[in-house]
This record gives sequence, structure tokens and C-alpha cells, in this order.
Amino acid sequence: MTNISKVCIVGASGKLGQYMVEHSLERGYEVVGVCREQSVEKLDRFQDRITINPGATNNREVIQQSVAECDGVLTVLVPWGVQQYSSGTAQAVLDYAKPGARLIYSCGWHITMDGKDKYSQGFLIGMKISSFLGRLTRMVDIDDQVEACNRIFASDTLWTVVRGSGLEEGESQGLPVWSRHVGDPILESDITRRTDFALFMVEALQNDELIHEAPAIVGSQTPSALAHAGDN
Ligand SMILES: NC(=O)c1ccc[n+]([C@@H]2O[C@H](COP(=O)([O-])OP(=O)(O)OC[C@H]3O[C@@H](n4cnc5c(N)ncnc54)[C@H](OP(=O)(O)O)[C@@H]3O)[C@@H](O)[C@H]2O)c1
Repeated sequence: MTNISKVCIVGASGKLGQYMVEHSLERGYEVVGVCREQSVEKLDRFQDRITINPGATNNREVIQQSVAECDGVLTVLVPWGVQQYSSGTAQAVLDYAKPGARLIYSCGWHITMDGKDKYSQGFLIGMKISSFLGRLTRMVDIDDQVEACNRIFASDTLWTVVRGSGLEEGESQGLPVWSRHVGDPILESDITRRTDFALFMVEALQNDELIHEAPAIVGSQTPSALAHAGDN
């Protein structure tokens, strides 16, 4: 098990990022956060407890400086803009994290590692539409998030790609449950509390069973999780 004392959170100012900061501080980890310059103030409540390195998450120098001494890196992969934001971010972390560091990335269920996920027709149509509209408006590049994950899957670093269902706010329900493939019955409820998604990522830092896995997760108290509790 990797001994974790210092972590970098890439995308620390987002909703998921802020929960990951909280969970990491609760565990006594030293935290370095990377976020865009204009978002630094979103981290004001952590000001004295974390180091903040402002910059775009695909800025290689900022990432190099931020991950250098970290035992773990938690990265929110967002597909914003048509500027290789996701793949640039993922690649910089892969290139500069110290050897042996645990790398935990987040993405949605649309990412597939081995092609064995089973998606509903509605999900596939929804993805096609949002991918098309995203490219049309040049606001979102879902293909680049797929590229980012393919690079991670091909890497021999100690990565985990945590794939999420729909997300909602609310009190923690505890550590989500996971399964290898979207379409597995345990995942049917398709909802996870955002704080618990972050919890799963932070806990993954110390879970060697998740190395080179792309767990698809769902809230532990959802009907499908409760109905299939013994499946895994
Ligand atoms: N169902 C799903 O698809 C699913 C499920 C689980 C997890 N996820 C993952 O979780 C992420 C969502 O995170 P969240 O809930 O924390 O949402 P969020 O608060 O909206 O955070 C999104 C992140 O995107 C950044 N961002 C927003 N606009 C940007 C822009 N124009 N350019 C560059 N960065 C920008 C934010 O940075 P600022 O603070 O600087 O704005 C923040 O770090 C998804 O992108 C995905 O990776 C997805």
C-alpha cells in the first residue's frame, strides 16, 4: 500500500475538488491544490491549510511544480473547450508525478476501458447529442476526455479512473460501491452523492485493488446497491 502524506488535487476549486480537499485534510494529508487563477477565492475557507498553485490544469509547468513531491494525485478530468484540456491535464500528471505515486482520475460513465460496458440506447443518444453540441459551440470536447482516459489506460503508472453515475448534493451515505462495467445490475440506480464520489477517490489512494481499474460507482444506500450488495 502506498504511504500517503502529501497529495495534489488538480481542479481543487470545483465542487468535487473541494470535497476532495476536505477528505484529504481530514486524513491529515498535506494538500497542494491546482485551480484556475479566477477560482482561487473559492478555496478561501482552506486558505491557511493548503498550498494553492493557480493555473490552467493543462499548464505543464504548473502541474510539474505541483505534483513533484506528492504521493498521490487526484485529478478531475473536465472536457472544457477545444484545447486538449482533459488530455493535456492527464498527460502532464502522467509525465510529472513522482514514480510510484497513486494517480486517481475522475470521469463519467461514458468512458469505457475494455468496451464491455453496456449502455442504454437513451444514454448513447444523449452522449451523441451532447458531444455534437459541445463541439458545435466549442465549449465541451468529450472526445478529448476519451483521449485522456485512453492515455491513462495505456500508462504503466499506478492509476485508477473512477467513473461516476449522476451526481447529487446531500449528506454522505458512506463509501460508494463499485463494479467493473456499466450495465451491471448493482449500478442501476445511477446516482452518487458528490461528497461520496470524492470520498471514493481519496480512499482509492490507499486501495491497491483499484490499481489499473476503472471502477464505475454508485451510492451505497441506493436501491440497486442494497439489492445487489453481495454481488461483487
Ligand atoms: N456523470 C458524469 O459525467 C460524471 C460523474 C461523476 C464525476 N464526473 C466528473 O466530475 C466532473 C464534474 O466535477 P464537479 O461536480 O466538481 O463540477 P464543477 O464544480 O462544475 O467542476 C468542474 C471543474 O471544471 C472546471 N471548469 C469549469 N469551467 C471551466 C472552463 N471553462 N475551463 C476550464 N475549467 C473549467 C472547474 O474549475 P473552476 O473552479 O476554475 O471553475 C472545476 O474544476 C466532471 O467533469 C467529470 O470529470 C462526471
